[in-house]
Amino acid sequence: MKRILSGIQPTNRLHLGNYLGAMRNWVKLQNEPGAECLYMIADLHAITVPQDPESLTRSTRETAAAYIAAGIDPSRSIIFVQSAVPAHSQLMWLLATMAQLGKLERMTQFKDKAGKNAERAGLGLFAYPVLMAADILVYQATHVPVGEDQKQHLELAREIAATFNTRYKTDFLIQPEPVITGPAPRVMSLRDGTQKMSKSAESDMTRINLTDDADAIAQKIRKAKTDAEPLPESEKGLENRPEAKNLVTIYAALADISRQDVLNDFAGKQFSEFKPALSDLAVSQIAPIAARMQELMTDVSEIDALLANANDRANNYAIPVLSEVERIMGIWK
Ligand code: TYM
Repeated sequence: MKRILSGIQPTNRLHLGNYLGAMRNWVKLQNEPGAECLYMIADLHAITVPQDPESLTRSTRETAAAYIAAGIDPSRSIIFVQSAVPAHSQLMWLLATMAQLGKLERMTQFKDKAGKNAERAGLGLFAYPVLMAADILVYQATHVPVGEDQKQHLELAREIAATFNTRYKTDFLIQPEPVITGPAPRVMSLRDGTQKMSKSAESDMTRINLTDDADAIAQKIRKAKTDAEPLPESEKGLENRPEAKNLVTIYAALADISRQDVLNDFAGKQFSEFKPALSDLAVSQIAPIAARMQELMTDVSEIDALLANANDRANNYAIPVLSEVERIMGIWK
């Protein structure tokens, strides 16, 4: 029996990296027989960097709409809000007593986000991976589908679970398996093939948002950075061509074929021929998601009702696990 847990922060807009690196795999896992799926909107993680309160509330609903529009079925998967399940924060404190500072300091995401002035970074940003461990362990999740950038955080979650089990001579906390699969675990920026596509990049031209319409998608792909060479015959020919590799990867992921299959069709062709084909493919997959999201956002009361119901279900999973951890630790009840 698989129990799947994952989440996305409701910050700005979701992009193609979130979709191909995470959400598409979530849909696949949801459709596996015997898998129980919990997909969270990670609002407590979002506030580790300053957020505009109104935008945060809107983005929380919009993220729920994006999950549904991308194919997560709320009658089969639990789509819930992290902050609505207090056991996450409560377990986080208990786990914080077992998380080593040295390890947290080595987290590359912390180093990136804190920048040069780590002294001024908030405690929340530093403790981000501990909350993430709590998110996962509080459901005894067995599998966590994420993009490649989350691998280090998942290793830490496994270590924290192991430390707890050793210290309290138990096997109660389950070490989750990362699921980092599919052709695009790391989608890169459209303007720089060495940088990850991200919500926080300043220029909107670096990413395709799930809310972009057909014109915006076509324009971003037309303007995407490339090199002057035609497409190669084999994957080896993509080495040292980060932008070309990224566009071929995106094509492969959207079409659900391998990179080599894409090259079989486009070897020797120029980007002037490849880009319109990629653009058509991206529009055909992303534009319906944007349209469905917009439709869902016209009646937020429906989304709110759905979330309220799912939050209750998530609490029913999380509360007994938290209680058992407390009992094991000897906390008076
Ligand atoms: P977030 O919102 O930064 O990213 C959400 C998911 O999208 C993936 N992702 C990408 N995949 C491929 N290419 C990219 N350019 C790209 N950018 C983002 C991320 O790997 C992630 O899977 N900390 C998590 C949210 C979270 C979480 C959890 C996940 C909080 N608690 C517990 C799993 C389990 C995050 O990175 O969100």
